[in-house]
Amino acid sequence: MKNIYKNSYKNIKKAKKILNKNNIIAVPTETVYGLAGNAYSDSAVKRIYKIKNRPKKNPLIIHYYNIKNLRKDVFIDNKFLKLYKKFSPGPLTYILKKKEDTEISSHANSNLNSIAVRFPKNPLTRNLLKNLDFPLAMPSANISSGVSPIKAEDVKDEFGKKISFILDGGRSKIGLESTVVNLCGKIQILRPGAISHKKISKVLKTKISISKKIKKLLSPGLLKRHYSPGIPIKLNCNISDNKAAFIVFGKKFKKGKNVFNLSFKGNLREAAKNLYSTLRKIKKLKYKKINIVKIPNKGIGIAINDRLKKASY
Ligand code: TXA
Ligand code: MG
Repeated sequence: MKNIYKNSYKNIKKAKKILNKNNIIAVPTETVYGLAGNAYSDSAVKRIYKIKNRPKKNPLIIHYYNIKNLRKDVFIDNKFLKLYKKFSPGPLTYILKKKEDTEISSHANSNLNSIAVRFPKNPLTRNLLKNLDFPLAMPSANISSGVSPIKAEDVKDEFGKKISFILDGGRSKIGLESTVVNLCGKIQILRPGAISHKKISKVLKTKISISKKIKKLLSPGLLKRHYSPGIPIKLNCNISDNKAAFIVFGKKFKKGKNVFNLSFKGNLREAAKNLYSTLRKIKKLKYKKINIVKIPNKGIGIAINDRLKKASY
């Protein structure tokens, strides 16, 4: 069955038509691919949870074209505006206080008094959002607790025929999910990503911490195990036996059949971009174990380590 559609005027129109009927499609973003549905529609949102097998308590991010359409759903303040000006559209998700009369389906935010919002940067998806009369509820396009997809074929691997329309925007530029920052209560990073807590601290001129505890409902990745390829992962390894897949970083590691280098150059952005495709490849090669070297815990390395820790749980 053909379900991957290239960028064209005709295909954007087709995507819009499916979404208008409250059906679900997959779309590219600069972070990872998302499963998109009308955020105002209970039935569309329920479909997303069902297809992903996602726990109802894990709320979705609502994706907008720009701030104009946002104002009727959430309260915005100066802190948000400062960050929005600097980082949106882009890989930053804001947790904001919900307006009582919002049209956003209460299923989408698990009935919380906050809503997660993001303005994705991928031009294809922006073009689509611009042409819709509603924002898109959009989790990563993978079965719950698994590895996020970074290209159209990954989405097909995850869902097979269950998703009849995947908009192909090529490979995601960043390859890890957005940074989630809580602006509703204590300002904190709930999920590290490409935009570091340091950059956010600089704009807000206050020190911002990364939430350590997996709190009850405030937690991104409520599930302790997340981002998992379904194979045991051992972190901080210096060596590996030949039977395990060995994920390394930097040029000091020898090449080998079972060795997968995230970045020969030792570049953390490149490593982030390669992480999920490497995990998928290793799974396809049917390795039973993954050993991985220590990844520097700075910049986007913090996000890489966050995902690896949860994947290895
Ligand atoms: O990069 C991304 O953010 C991708 C692309 C598709 O935009 N989306 C994504 O969605 O990663 P998802 O559903 O896989 O992760 C959303 C995270 C979840 O861990 C969820 O717990 C958190 O955001 N979240 C959503 N609403 C929240 C809220 N009201 N309060 C706290 N956390 C929230
Ligand atoms: Mg996800």
